[in-house]
Amino acid sequence: MAHYLVFLGSTRTSTPPAPARLGERVSQTCKRLLSSLPDTTAEVIDPLTLDLNGPFKPHFAYAKKTVPDDLEALAGKIEQADGYVMVSPEYNHSMSPALSHLLNHFGASLFAFKPSAIVTYSMGQWGGARAAVSMRAFLSELGCLPVSAMIHIPKAQEALNEDGQFAQEQERWESYFGRTLGQLTWWAEAAKAHKAEQDPTTLSPAFNKSPAQRNAPKNDDTF
Ligand SMILES: Cc1cc2nc3c(=O)[nH]c(=O)nc-3n(C[C@H](O)[C@H](O)[C@H](O)COP(=O)(O)O)c2cc1C
Repeated sequence: MAHYLVFLGSTRTSTPPAPARLGERVSQTCKRLLSSLPDTTAEVIDPLTLDLNGPFKPHFAYAKKTVPDDLEALAGKIEQADGYVMVSPEYNHSMSPALSHLLNHFGASLFAFKPSAIVTYSMGQWGGARAAVSMRAFLSELGCLPVSAMIHIPKAQEALNEDGQFAQEQERWESYFGRTLGQLTWWAEAAKAHKAEQDPTTLSPAFNKSPAQRNAPKNDDTF
């Protein structure tokens, strides 16, 4: 059995532009397609349902007993999941701030040695491709390396109905999604199987004091 988290990268309930939160449709589609695979479950992580206890304080900055409930619960889910789908709209040619803000709450060790898939969308013609490019760097640093295939959905308001079903050309869309989700599930299963053979942290221990632990000798005091 494999379990995936689908991160919904929008908290935008206001309009214009309408409709708001197209990300709901995109996330539901990813969840539906992943859940249709054998022995596979998926869950949407919706930042609107979480109390992140702002102003910004990451999960790893709290003393263990004082971590807010929602942060602790999500940290557990991230740790348990086999892979991630990162769904982002394009805002000013960049990744959604709602998604980066949510992910910044968690340390890389929770995501490490598991794959991710980049899924972007927009109301315009490029489908968030410009946001996707920077997501590769972000997700690699987070430890959940993105698979090579990506999903970009131009004019998402026309491509997807409110219930996350494709408005037309269903077969072609499913095949398009399937390529990326197929890469994600392949890598996730491979990583899981190999983890059972070898604990990756014996080769690459998690940073437990400071990101400077990754630095080259004589370069200890900067990120
Ligand atoms: C602040 C802001 C910036 C945007 N920037 C872009 C952009 O750079 N490229 C683009 O194609 N669409 C852009 N859009 C339009 C979004 O693609 C569209 O609003 C989409 O529905 C956003 O996803 P959401 O509804 O899930 O929040 C932007 C929208 C907002 C609110």
